[in-house]
Amino acid sequence: MVIYCAGLSPVAFGAAPTDPAPGVAHPALWPQLHSQGLVDAKTEARVTQLLSGMSLEEKVGQMIQADLSAIKPEDLREYPLGSILAGGNTPPLGGNGRAPVTAWIDTARAYRAVSLEQRPGHIAIPVIFGLDAVHGNSHVVGATIFPHNIGLGAAHDPGLMRRIGAATAQETAAAGVDWAFGPTLATPQDTRWGRSYEGYSEDPALVRRYAGEMVLGLQGAPGAGHVLQYGHVAASAKHFLGDGGTRGGIDQGDTDVSEAELIRTHAQGYFTAIPAGVMTVMVSFTSWQGRKMHGNDSLLSGVLKGRLGFDGFVVGDWNAHSQLPGCSSGDCPAAANAGLDMYMAPDNWRALYKATLAEVRAGTIAQSRVDDAVRRILRVKFKLGLFDMARPWEGRADVLGNAAHRQLAREAVRKSLVLLKNNGAVLPLRATAHVLVAGAAADDIGRQCGGWTLTWQGTGNSNSDFPNGQSIFSGLHAALNAGGGSAELSVDGSFVHRPDAAVVVFGETPYAEMQGDLKSLEFQAEDKHDLALLKRLKAAGIPVVAVFLSGRPLWVNPELNAADAFVAAWFPGSEGAGVADLLIAAASGKPRYDFSGQLSFSWPANAAQFALHRAALPYAPLFPLGYGLNYEKAVPLPQLSEVSGVGATIWNIDRYFLAGQTPAPWAFVATPPELLSLRAVDAGGVQEAGRELRWSGQGSATLAIAGPPVDLRRQANAELSLLIEYRLDEAPSAPLQLLMGCTPACAAAAALDLGTQWAGARSGSDWRTLNVRLSCFRDAGVDLAAVSMPFALRTAGRLGLTLRSVRLASDPASAICLPRAAPN
Ligand code: BGC
Ligand code: BGC
Repeated sequence: MVIYCAGLSPVAFGAAPTDPAPGVAHPALWPQLHSQGLVDAKTEARVTQLLSGMSLEEKVGQMIQADLSAIKPEDLREYPLGSILAGGNTPPLGGNGRAPVTAWIDTARAYRAVSLEQRPGHIAIPVIFGLDAVHGNSHVVGATIFPHNIGLGAAHDPGLMRRIGAATAQETAAAGVDWAFGPTLATPQDTRWGRSYEGYSEDPALVRRYAGEMVLGLQGAPGAGHVLQYGHVAASAKHFLGDGGTRGGIDQGDTDVSEAELIRTHAQGYFTAIPAGVMTVMVSFTSWQGRKMHGNDSLLSGVLKGRLGFDGFVVGDWNAHSQLPGCSSGDCPAAANAGLDMYMAPDNWRALYKATLAEVRAGTIAQSRVDDAVRRILRVKFKLGLFDMARPWEGRADVLGNAAHRQLAREAVRKSLVLLKNNGAVLPLRATAHVLVAGAAADDIGRQCGGWTLTWQGTGNSNSDFPNGQSIFSGLHAALNAGGGSAELSVDGSFVHRPDAAVVVFGETPYAEMQGDLKSLEFQAEDKHDLALLKRLKAAGIPVVAVFLSGRPLWVNPELNAADAFVAAWFPGSEGAGVADLLIAAASGKPRYDFSGQLSFSWPANAAQFALHRAALPYAPLFPLGYGLNYEKAVPLPQLSEVSGVGATIWNIDRYFLAGQTPAPWAFVATPPELLSLRAVDAGGVQEAGRELRWSGQGSATLAIAGPPVDLRRQANAELSLLIEYRLDEAPSAPLQLLMGCTPACAAAAALDLGTQWAGARSGSDWRTLNVRLSCFRDAGVDLAAVSMPFALRTAGRLGLTLRSVRLASDPASAICLPRAAPN
């Protein structure tokens, strides 16, 4: 429940008459800086000359970026857009997201070629092509995947950032891409935020030390009068500003802090990124003091371009301009007027282009504002070298995942792991030992990599998608084999030969924006199956080493208790061998490498310690910022409290049935109960993980999952879908409907016809998935603002079905729509 304390607001904003309006910044409070190496007389003269010949259409075109899934190269002839991006789920031309790097090179060239065509009445200006190369060139198969930023933060090594930036730039440039949408300079303050792992640290000082180094790595050293060295790309410091400070850790939420706090905590990274010459800054989806950042002229123009002296260009985030009052994805003069130079308009770029053009003609957007935006964009294109046709790095497919980069990533893994417990000096393991490697993430490179890896949420990846990667199991196996020992892989922990020790690799599954947001910090609140595995092994008298993969510190006291040693491994990326480097000793018995990682985020002592600030008292984390054991100093960890500190009913809007449970607030409802049976059964080898459902066929009956109304509009806009994992035990004997219900009742309007999908289907023992886009329910009449029944099946016939999971997911490739069912 939300309680509004109206009486508090006058106190919060203070009483002085000179007090600012909310969301209005004061540039004089900010440091005076300037972009190094971006402005020089020669480049400015070239820009001026080019600008003078450009039509208004060409200028407005430069200000718009489209997603390649929604624009064909030849469209650029009619619409001279300035930039193309590949969004988190966007494949290269040809549509195969798993295509080799050559597909990306061809894609980049196809758009560039049209933009550079010599045609009468057309000025050739190369498009700038960007994507989320945020932990390596992580959108492209074969790239080296570095640890996510939270792990790099634990390494506390600014020099390493520069080297990783340079390697990432080479792999990105090799793919034909000009621009990486990173580094993320968020300083996450509430780790319920699903993007916490994209930030280096909760500590602004560390973010500040890292930001400039990463920019220098990606872009190379800024030099007046020189284009960037080949093999570098433009960076994008993001998301300006306050993305890590939203109330409740809610993605795209409101950062309701004072201006002083904005400067002290959230802006520090920009204070080194701008002097390092960062070429672009991406605006945040978030609000500051209730005002959306994309419309905040005081911050974009007054602070960023004015006081901080930023001379590159300001790019928007994915359709974020549409969230400004009075705006839509296809029309938003307010953003340009606030200082936005380039709109990220993935799908609605055509409408936006037309509307913006009309608004400049009508004077709603000043001509001078357009000239400033285009000057900045052209400046970056010149400084980047896009007008100089030679591209010696492009096409060098061998650069992706090369030995040097993989060594570097492996070093980063070693430096990022944090040892939290090593009771009885269980680690390092002897090289001659027989080690059981268990846990669902033990041999799964996709899980090591986390979100923003090949796909937006990092879901749907398998080991074969990482031709240049190595799983943690495979790394351990190699190290043990070399030392005379052996490794046995067993996800469920069963074994043939009794092991000397077990390494259990488990943790969070991949996620990114929005889907990663949590209500509490309890790990596996609804289903502690990894804990059960740890306990089983421990009960068998086997020393247990936990390797925990996660995008943030989580409350894992029961798991810490159940393990003899515990390693926080974050999302380490494609080099699983870096884990073995630390865990497996040399033949002499001495460690090959010692742990040096130290927490860059405080670790919670209970599941309700969402925001742990050193400055705020009481500061009582389980492990403070900077904590980390090593082989020389390993104080034993005593038994910890297993009281989570939060209620069991954690509200969630996207998981309806999972691991045998309907997590709160959801529940199964059968109507009428006598025509339907519902029974817990084993599924996928896990006890009682499924529900077996049987319709008797004696009349119309509905099985639903229902709860209080939740708002799924944003999920639908991001093209999430309802994903149902099931086994068909008996095919339906009559029409079958899939329903979604909202408040007030609208279920009948929203029935989709499942009959065609399932009627003829043979029943069988294999698990299948049904993946229906949320937008189909919306189009069928469900008010997604108030969904009270996210899933229901109705039939008057016989039907036998075992459910394994029902939840929202991002898997656009397999998502479908169903025809609307005839009303009944
Ligand atoms: C994210 C950005 C990302 C962009 C392009 C947005 O939704 O917030 O971080 O760069 O999409 O994929
Ligand atoms: C992401 C994109 C992604 C899209 C999926 C956006 O919010 O930033 O990169 O492809 O959602 O619909």
